[in-house]
Amino acid sequence: MRIDIITVLPELLKSPFEASILKRAIEAGLVEVHFHNLRDYTTDNYKSIDDTQFGGGAGMVMMIEPIDKCITKLKAERHYDEVIYMTPDGDTLNQGIANQISLKENIIILCGHYKGVDQRVRDLFITKEISIGDYVLSGGELGAAVLCDAVIRLIPGVLGNETSALTDSFQDNLLAPPIYTKPRDYKGHKVPDVLLTGHAANIEKWREEQAYQRTKDRRPDLLED
Ligand code: ADE
Repeated sequence: MRIDIITVLPELLKSPFEASILKRAIEAGLVEVHFHNLRDYTTDNYKSIDDTQFGGGAGMVMMIEPIDKCITKLKAERHYDEVIYMTPDGDTLNQGIANQISLKENIIILCGHYKGVDQRVRDLFITKEISIGDYVLSGGELGAAVLCDAVIRLIPGVLGNETSALTDSFQDNLLAPPIYTKPRDYKGHKVPDVLLTGHAANIEKWREEQAYQRTKDRRPDLLED
């Protein structure tokens, strides 16, 4: 998979890709991530990427021309399956959306800033709009990092068997069951007996019941689908 991220703040975005699982996925060649600074696609001396709104109103709007130049250059080099715009009014990211995107070969992610982008960018170039939740961030960069993390860990080979994404919360519309490690008894707080029996079928049954109960208590909405 190849991910091209268009941003005015590449330095804000780089660090999540320089550690742990995302770093290893990149080093193993399972994903390529490229950053494009929108200011490199400006034509004026000030490297302007935004301007005031037509019709008046507070806040600047990102202009179409630098975004067009950047996306058009990328599209001339390869086919893109999706051009995603990070915005609080997009579809709220969930595990299903992350699963779908993880199957794509090449994607572009555009990070918004200020009030957002000129509507014509959305009309002409964007195929999917994604929000990471009902709150407003200063820009799309942190949202793009969240999306990339959720997607990259699903790419086959990124996680080893021991950390398989198949047992994550949300993978079957259920939250994950409680988990324990050593010691068996911490100041009188004991690990549930069933986990110490070595009886695989009973352990699996217990985990399923716990996952269901936790989902019912915390996220009953997930059981309605
Ligand atoms: N940009 C600003 N707020 C955002 C959000 N909640 N999700 C994605 N991108 C954003």
